[in-house]
Amino acid sequence: MRHTQLGAWSWPLALLLLFATFTSTALGAKHGDFKTCSQSSFCRRLRSLSQRSTASGFHSPYSLGQGQQSDISQKDGASWTFPLNTELYPEIKFALKVDFVEKGDGIARLRVDEVDSKLPWKRYNEAAKWALVDETPVLTSIGNVRKVSSKGRTSFKYGPGHSLELVIDHSHFKITFRRDGSDIMYINERGLFHMEHFRAKDEQQPAEAVDGAAAPEGNQQVFSARPTHGDTTWFEGEPDGELWEERFSKWTDSKPKGPEAFSVDISFPGVEHIFGLAEHASPLSLPSTDGGRYSEPYRLWNVDIFEYEHDSTMALYGAIPLVHAQNGKHSVGLLSLVASETLVDVTHPKSGVQTHWMSESGIMDLLILPGPDPMALFQQYAALTGTTDLPPQWALGYHQCRWNYIDETDVLEVQRRFDEEDIPLDVTWLDIEYAEEHRYFDWDKKHFPDPQRMQNEVGSKGRKMVAIVDPHIKRTDDFRIYKDAQEKNVITKKSDGTTNFEGWCWTGSSVWVDFFNPESWSWWKDMFSFNVWKDSTKYLFIWNDMNEPSVFDGPEISMPRDNIHHGGWEHRDVHNINGMMFHRATHDALEAREEPAKRSFVLSRSFYAGSQRYGAIWTGDNLGTWEHMAGETSMLLSLNICGMTFCGADVGGFFGNPTPEMLIRWYQAGAFMPFFRAHAHIDTKRREPYLYDEPYKGIMRETIRLRYTMLPIWYTAFHEASTTGIPTMRPQYVVFPKDEKGFAVDDQYYIGGSGLLVKPVTAPAVESSEVYLSDNQPYYNYFNHHMYPASTKRRHVTVPAPLESFPLLVQGGNILPVRTRARRASTLMWRDPFTLVIALGREGTAEGELYLDDGESFDYQKGEYVWRGFKAVSTTGETTVTSFSKVEEHSNNISTVSVNDNAWASKIGDVRVEKVVVLGMQKPPSRVWVDGEPGDLYWDFEYGKASNGKSEGQASKLTIKNPDIRIIREWTIRIA
Ligand code: NOJ
Repeated sequence: MRHTQLGAWSWPLALLLLFATFTSTALGAKHGDFKTCSQSSFCRRLRSLSQRSTASGFHSPYSLGQGQQSDISQKDGASWTFPLNTELYPEIKFALKVDFVEKGDGIARLRVDEVDSKLPWKRYNEAAKWALVDETPVLTSIGNVRKVSSKGRTSFKYGPGHSLELVIDHSHFKITFRRDGSDIMYINERGLFHMEHFRAKDEQQPAEAVDGAAAPEGNQQVFSARPTHGDTTWFEGEPDGELWEERFSKWTDSKPKGPEAFSVDISFPGVEHIFGLAEHASPLSLPSTDGGRYSEPYRLWNVDIFEYEHDSTMALYGAIPLVHAQNGKHSVGLLSLVASETLVDVTHPKSGVQTHWMSESGIMDLLILPGPDPMALFQQYAALTGTTDLPPQWALGYHQCRWNYIDETDVLEVQRRFDEEDIPLDVTWLDIEYAEEHRYFDWDKKHFPDPQRMQNEVGSKGRKMVAIVDPHIKRTDDFRIYKDAQEKNVITKKSDGTTNFEGWCWTGSSVWVDFFNPESWSWWKDMFSFNVWKDSTKYLFIWNDMNEPSVFDGPEISMPRDNIHHGGWEHRDVHNINGMMFHRATHDALEAREEPAKRSFVLSRSFYAGSQRYGAIWTGDNLGTWEHMAGETSMLLSLNICGMTFCGADVGGFFGNPTPEMLIRWYQAGAFMPFFRAHAHIDTKRREPYLYDEPYKGIMRETIRLRYTMLPIWYTAFHEASTTGIPTMRPQYVVFPKDEKGFAVDDQYYIGGSGLLVKPVTAPAVESSEVYLSDNQPYYNYFNHHMYPASTKRRHVTVPAPLESFPLLVQGGNILPVRTRARRASTLMWRDPFTLVIALGREGTAEGELYLDDGESFDYQKGEYVWRGFKAVSTTGETTVTSFSKVEEHSNNISTVSVNDNAWASKIGDVRVEKVVVLGMQKPPSRVWVDGEPGDLYWDFEYGKASNGKSEGQASKLTIKNPDIRIIREWTIRIA
């Protein structure tokens, strides 16, 4: 077995070691590399406004003129535009556009932009173009909205039964969102809405206040003084000398358009919990940022942050400006489509949750998702930004990665060792060292002499490979990608708009393709075609890392904000979308490689709202510590509710050398993450599961096999996510939106709609763990069938969690379709028989579902799939278990109705149900048979102490052996 042979690497060694050492010796995030709010002039200005605004007598200086129905682009659509004025600058004009969107049960959109600016600049207004499925969502017809105007107020009633209402107060601009007459959300209630207008550099702040009052002098001292409206200094704070040019560390941001930040407060009355704003390493229910646990706002500015902290509001790799607010009665969501740096303060006064959003540039583009519950919010968000791309099924198997598998022999040896130890494996990954001088696409032929041979060898075992392609492109004329990018003129520009921007990354001096430029798209597609990238095969998929983008010698390890992208937009305007554009381009390229197309798999580190359409993401460079392991659950839950359901964390921890105990706990947690990949930094010791002694190796093997057993459940959950937007990892508040006690629970979760409840163990020496239960159902331990009885009380139950186990419960009332045969890879399981585990609910009933297709093509879009439902019903003396077609049940929503009558269904027509296990029956049956079939079935009944369903203990278990039924067919088993 070869271990990391750093000596074998010739060229990049020095650079690599520099950064490897850099990353591995620094303990914790380097705070000095990243801005705090007070180090950003716009955040300083806007955040201090929230302090000044508490002065008595303060009100918003913004007011509205009467609205007019605008009819610019959409005939008959429900859209109104209001002039928006400010007492601060009476000559400056803004407009508020209010749109009502057709899909999504009443989504309202509010946009504010500056109009008629005398300066030749425009605010960035294209975030929607990239984030939304339809840049301009179709509006509902005007007849669906009732507009009522009274003096100083316009109100719109809309949505189902006109139950939603948007009330716009004119004189001090304020918007109230109501449902059934109750206030749900206020916009600008605190008067923090402010949009800095474009101004000439030499424009003076008015020396005198507009209403004639003398402008106060100084700064802090006057903040608490009674404000004089029209007084710009009071409202905006003293100009701090960084409106036009801003320094951070050794960098200067030229800010050619000067200040253009905006701010808005959004409050959720009667609510204690808000969720969202991924990505942060914080609890799922977002704590306040006013000096308790956190004193910095939640920062959305995609950065490459190594050794990030496990409990912080610091920015990470991705940004989704979405929140869900939740109380026991309703949910409401808010999406702010802005791609510039955005910071959000959260506070929890008695009245509800208050948020204050501060963004550096762009228009204000808010979408109000009406709810009324979390499931509705997911569907509304999906109606706007799309659902997760249905992944190839193998991508839900186990992924083995490290930085780096060093050569072909190493890669093949990994395959052999997994096989030898009977541990399933689907994907083997290659980090940056596979590429000659980190020139992605160019294999290092010394170590990978025949990449095709290697990929085919791996592919012949039913497995895949993933290789990394980072966005930095080595500046060397003998690199075709660089040459092409230059010729096509698709490289991101410096602030002058014409010179290519150059920076430093793994490959040394590099350039970055501007994926906002449409010219780059078809070219990038070509790069992945098998004719062009001759060293790739259909078994090879892609990892897009470092796409925030990471620029080692740039401000905050990224690009200067004044760099220029296609359309003349500054990098500051588009930064948070940058990573998504790269992900998107690679996703589209992989889909185009084969004819007919196959599903792509691209892992990205950076993301934005809408990234779910392009593939998976992971939580970046975590640490191999218990705290990080614990923090991953809430991070992944937050990503899930923000649409990024295909997500995972580096199993084992990227940095550090976990003890065997910790590694086992990482594997158990990882086996229940949607994306399950072990990964490790180049400086760490090798830690593939087969390297360990017993019992550790055996436990890891069983954990990975457990994942494979559960693959049908994951794939079914992904089918649901890809059609509805409902995530695969569901926190307590999503499943039980009326149980306020469960809202802060973020260390356990349900998998899809399966009823499986998992709580990873994330601390050392644990023997048992407490699980919170919200509902009046029994729960069964998946491993040993210990039953926790139903109760009308919310409760904690104690579940044994010795090293080889952890809380994995099945909620009574669910049927789990599982596949228990161990295989080398998931692609070899498609004909394997199923076991149905039926966990009877309190009433003796249960339901479940199963979605199956070929796992890699798009034929499912033509109806080539099987979608089954299972139902168990108990009446006196008899329990029946029935299999039925879910497609028929949902046929109204699906254009191509396929009732098992398709090529895929025929292919798996003889796949059997080999076992049915019924948990929670009270007494043994006397007969078990399949309706319409002669003869009885073999069965076995184990009495459990808990057979009365009331006391905790072993559940009774009926095992029906080989019932000779087919998974895709209709049948009924009778248990009498
Ligand atoms: C940073 C990524 O986060 C990490 O996973 C990867 O191993 C290194 N880049 C090297 O490519």
